[in-house]
Amino acid sequence: MIIIAGPASNGIAFRLSKILSAEYTRALTRLFPDGETYIKIEKELKGRTVVIVQSLYPPQDRHYIQLLLMIDVARDLGAKKVIAIVPYMAYARQDKRFTPGEAISIKMVLRGIERAGADYLITVDIHSEKSLREWLSIGYANLSAIPVLAEYFRGKLENPMVLAPDLGALDRAKRAGEVLECEYDFLEKFRDRVTGEVTVKPKQLDVKGRDVLIVDDIISTGGTVVLATRELLRLGARKVHVACTHPLFVGDSYEKVLSSGVESVIATDTIPSPASRVSVAPLIAEHVKAITKRI
Ligand code: R5P
Repeated sequence: MIIIAGPASNGIAFRLSKILSAEYTRALTRLFPDGETYIKIEKELKGRTVVIVQSLYPPQDRHYIQLLLMIDVARDLGAKKVIAIVPYMAYARQDKRFTPGEAISIKMVLRGIERAGADYLITVDIHSEKSLREWLSIGYANLSAIPVLAEYFRGKLENPMVLAPDLGALDRAKRAGEVLECEYDFLEKFRDRVTGEVTVKPKQLDVKGRDVLIVDDIISTGGTVVLATRELLRLGARKVHVACTHPLFVGDSYEKVLSSGVESVIATDTIPSPASRVSVAPLIAEHVKAITKRI
């Protein structure tokens, strides 16, 4: 087995190679003067299981084309199996036509990975697992970082409660609640599909004097978490902590979240960020070990 780090692997490929005691290399990349992407892999891949690690955080489009080129050249070089590891799957939130005429972006992103030649795809907390079921015919795994994120908070919270910012994320709150052996619930969030504006509907929740852990898959503009934190503090929560898998933090959103009154913000390393304190590499390594025996 050989682990190939793409330009956006964010150290996960290296950590994976250490855990799996596998050879590690980095794909070479540069830009042509016109902005086109160049990729080169300088290793013998014939007959080998090749694991390519590339997260799709911004610039998503560039990182995506790099991923496709790496998969394609691995195939050309005679790889026996190609496992694509995409810790953060971009475009996953555009998983349906919210208004007529919109492209279903995740469909093409997933189909491209399959078409480029991947035999198996591993991702972490994709926005909706349904997209994988719907648009892939190769094997895949959607690993959940929620248990390891929740584990980080074990013993750190007083009379805890876990909250999802919306109903769609309730399952994540449930998983975290199971780890922390505490209650879980959800807030009612609405997003205006045209302006993108987020509102959180006031809801009666028994958070008075309790430590609340908000669990979400992505923090992008921070709007969701900021509104949820304010609402929870208004309802009398003692402290509000935030755990998220993918810390996109666009613009100054990290600072915005920190100044909302939140006690701590903890994320994983699927995307580099100042909040990335929990690594998903052990989780991925465990799965790679399990599937290389059967694919
Ligand atoms: C949306 O459904 C996701 O689960 C996140 O809640 C959302 O993407 C966060 O975005 P933002 O930080 O811009 O509110």
